[in-house]
Amino acid sequence: MHTRLAQLHSLLHRYAHAYYTLDAPLVPDAEYDRLFAELQALEAAHPELKTADSPTLRVGGAVLAAFASLKHAVPMLSIRTETDTTAEGAQAFHNRLAKELAKTTVVAQKPVQSSIFESFDQVVSGSIDFSAIEYVAELKFDGLAINLRYEAGKLVQAATRGDGETGEDVTQNIRGIGQVPLSLNTATPPKVLEVRGEVYMRRDDFAQLNERQRAKIAAGATGEKTFVNPRNTAAGAVRQLDPAIARQRPLSFFAYALGEVSQEVSFSSQWQMLQAFKAWGFPVCEHSRICRGPQALVQFHADMAALRDSLPFDIDGVVYKVNSVAQQHTLGYVSREPRWAVAHKYPAEEQLSTVLAIDLQVGRTGALTPVAKLAPVFVGNVTVSNVTLHNEDEARRKDVRVGDTVVVRRAGDVIPEIVSVVIEKRPTPEPEAFDLYKRLSGQCPECASPIAREEGEAAWRCTGGLYCPAQRKQALLHFAGRRAVDIEGLGDKLVEQLVDEGVVKTVPDLYRLGLSSLAALERMAEKSAQNIVQALETSKSTTLPRFLFGLGIRHVGETTAKDLAKHFGTLDALMAA
Ligand code: IVH
Repeated sequence: MHTRLAQLHSLLHRYAHAYYTLDAPLVPDAEYDRLFAELQALEAAHPELKTADSPTLRVGGAVLAAFASLKHAVPMLSIRTETDTTAEGAQAFHNRLAKELAKTTVVAQKPVQSSIFESFDQVVSGSIDFSAIEYVAELKFDGLAINLRYEAGKLVQAATRGDGETGEDVTQNIRGIGQVPLSLNTATPPKVLEVRGEVYMRRDDFAQLNERQRAKIAAGATGEKTFVNPRNTAAGAVRQLDPAIARQRPLSFFAYALGEVSQEVSFSSQWQMLQAFKAWGFPVCEHSRICRGPQALVQFHADMAALRDSLPFDIDGVVYKVNSVAQQHTLGYVSREPRWAVAHKYPAEEQLSTVLAIDLQVGRTGALTPVAKLAPVFVGNVTVSNVTLHNEDEARRKDVRVGDTVVVRRAGDVIPEIVSVVIEKRPTPEPEAFDLYKRLSGQCPECASPIAREEGEAAWRCTGGLYCPAQRKQALLHFAGRRAVDIEGLGDKLVEQLVDEGVVKTVPDLYRLGLSSLAALERMAEKSAQNIVQALETSKSTTLPRFLFGLGIRHVGETTAKDLAKHFGTLDALMAA
């Protein structure tokens, strides 16, 4: 092979692996781009040098009319999902396997060793301890299964699972995934190696993609939409006929199983196979763990449940697999599912609910936020009954109406959201579309001041300013907040009371509060009143940036407040300006 070409292949493969899979770039992007361009130029001049594993195949490709179907050399199975995901569930799975394994081992020896006869009966009665069964516990990634076929170390084909027997040829799109090796990291590649795993989209990549989509929509692009969830977006991207579009959807990959392999590929355990995957250059999830006995499985289930929200990707459960390949063979398969593996699901991160009402909340700056009141629903481990619709445009885009059935999503630490309306379930006659102005008859729901929406602004606002009790409360809370002047003890309830009883209207009023007026409030203990007076006193020695931020002037956030303080030095200088 052309030596420079070989060099470029090897460098680009290494750099791509370091960048996409190890998350530890070896060279600046510009260097990668430079080598890439050099390879492209070389191939353009000598088309005969372009090979099946060329890094340049990651980009480009023709728009397809349809995907070709591909028969899997080895069927792609699914895993049984247990409904009992408690500790007893893991124990039951283990007991079943222990019994099965003991039976087959012992039955073979029964005629010669009578002593084992006893243990056989013990096994059947469940008294033998097979706590030594080793498992590999993995996460159940919420993406789509893909079969990658390597011949002589080069990626030659990628297929979706399809019906398990026949999938679709999505090679072109899969080549665009940086984490998928185009060539195996080994000098002695097997003749045939099929690696199976999950293509998925990370939560941060999904959020950024949607941000870009929203920007396009805001800029007036037609035919663009935001995406519903990472799983569907990943599946859509893999099955996207235009490779140029597919490449704009950031995808990731985890390897977890084998397909067809030539005879020189053989592993004695699932764990050994995962290590080999890693060495070959595939991403393998770092949370996979060897578990000895059912208790360890239960522990894994609990550990991962605790970790779930903070993972960078969605999972819908965990998978337990018998580690020993010999034991896997013994256990075999029942109706297209391995007997040696089971999935335990976590509570879903998407659920249906119905919209009971759409309320409007007045914020500190008067912004009116539509909030959907939902029939309470348990999703992503919390009960959700209020979901913000952000602003009028967002509410209209989603076209959420009272009475609608909606898909509610709460994944990770992200606040719950309505991802879509189930249009087929919309009641008849159709409820009216949400129209903020009409709904409020042009008036603030709290103070009846006129509402207005400025050119280029997303929000309708109450024009009442501090006349509006809702704005007043929020302004006071903001001023007293931790990041502003930090008045301890001045929270929601107290501010509500002070404003509703007309004791406090503006920030200066706070500093006119005496012990007696505070202590006169309902449910206010003498000691608490003293603490608040003390906290107010302490807050007087706050810093200039905190004070400026606390005033809650529109467009003066923490950073701007700091900049202003730095530039002007004193409040007097700033006021004079
Ligand atoms: S192993 C013979 N491991 O779950 C077992 N599957 O119902 C083959 N999945 O379609 C699959 N995470 O898309 C396996 N760590 C994991 C998985 C996993 C997610 C998906 C996969 C498959 C389905 C099985």
